[in-house]
Amino acid sequence: MTLTVAFRKSGRTVAWAATDSLLTFAEENGVEAPSSCGAGVCGTCATALLAGEVSYVEDPLYMPDPGVVLLCCTTPKTSVILDL
Ligand code: FES
Repeated sequence: MTLTVAFRKSGRTVAWAATDSLLTFAEENGVEAPSSCGAGVCGTCATALLAGEVSYVEDPLYMPDPGVVLLCCTTPKTSVILDL
């Protein structure tokens, strides 16, 4: 099953290709995403997850609000829609 990642603000939907995180995936697809530490510490990359589920590659130190995910340390578990 092919997972897709939809970037709502950018109006783009892209088939997920395995990479280390949704942050890297967004950047590789020309979608600007906020980031700083890249390691789940600062919360800069926190982005609303509008649909779907993600998996955390490692437990982040920064705990995002419900409905918000850290792009730098997650990969999609299902197809997702991000508020990017
Ligand atoms: S860039 Fe710092 S938590 Fe993701």
